[in-house]
Amino acid sequence: MNELDALVDSARASFEQAATPADLENAKAQFLGKSGRLTELMKGMAALSVDEKKTRGAAINLAKQAIEAALNARRQALADAELQAQLKAEALDVTLPGRQRGQGGLHPVSLTLERIEQIFGSMGFDVAQGPEIETDWFNFTALNTPEDHPARSMHDTFYVEGGSASAPNLLRTHTSPMQIRHAVQHVKRHRDRLDAGQGMPEIRVIAPGRTYRVDSDATHSPMFHQCEGLWIGENVSFKDLKVVFTDFCRTFFESDDLVLRFRPSFFPFTEPSAEIDIQFQTGPLAGRWLEVAGSGQVHPHVVRNMGLDPEHFIGFAFGMGPDRLTMLRYGVNDLRLFFDGDIRFLSQFQ
Ligand code: PHE
Repeated sequence: MNELDALVDSARASFEQAATPADLENAKAQFLGKSGRLTELMKGMAALSVDEKKTRGAAINLAKQAIEAALNARRQALADAELQAQLKAEALDVTLPGRQRGQGGLHPVSLTLERIEQIFGSMGFDVAQGPEIETDWFNFTALNTPEDHPARSMHDTFYVEGGSASAPNLLRTHTSPMQIRHAVQHVKRHRDRLDAGQGMPEIRVIAPGRTYRVDSDATHSPMFHQCEGLWIGENVSFKDLKVVFTDFCRTFFESDDLVLRFRPSFFPFTEPSAEIDIQFQTGPLAGRWLEVAGSGQVHPHVVRNMGLDPEHFIGFAFGMGPDRLTMLRYGVNDLRLFFDGDIRFLSQFQ
């Protein structure tokens, strides 16, 4: 083997050994660099005759082309290897089944609230929303609840730090403050007509939302839901309350033979007052009286705090527990399940 063929072989071998592009560039310098072995051979041609230069030059050129070809081949091989390694590292298995996005749904209590709004909506009731952080005035005082009422104690109500009697200072313990808030707005809107002795459109509203009490067991949660109902007009009676609420319960539970009982009770803001119990005639709860709401004829003091004359305006209010309605409708026996956020429980309502 002549000297040039040996050089080409040795270049090929050293390129083959180069494991990285940097190694390869070093190997290249040894042959094609300024003082590389091939470059040295070319420098040696200066001493040759013109004829010798021709043959020797052609031979060296061939060797150079062979070395360059070997270099490029190795470069390509290293680049391919790198690409393969990268592809392997970022492997994407297109045959895997797609990842499905879980289908969300409404919370069972939200389903109940929607249902309540829809049923009362069909009976001409508006839906009102109000603040969960309330003032003493709206939550208690305006509702004829005296200063020394136990519901006002620290044990029963969450107070907000830094609040005062005129600024919102507690988490509302019921949705009843919405009776006052909504009625005051309504009265304001119809002030001119009222002042002119022309009366006003009846107040017919429900106010669903979150409420808070210092209570926690299987049937009480510190945060729970209520839905207030209020109907005020010039001639609204307890009979209307019975009809509306009976209709609501039968529609809500999809049961015509549901029986209601209005059991005398006491609330500072209604007089007379009644707890509303329902009884199913069939199904697992048949025969038991189940309390679902407090209610009563709105107290004259409260009517006055709405900005209305209790001699002319009268009506009723009720407050029911959507959480309890949800438990009864779906046969759930622990209220806390609604607020644990366990998807295994919640997904059963979709
Ligand atoms: N706010 C009362 C409660 O939380 C319920 C109620 C509402 C009673 C309206 C009468 C009228 O217990």
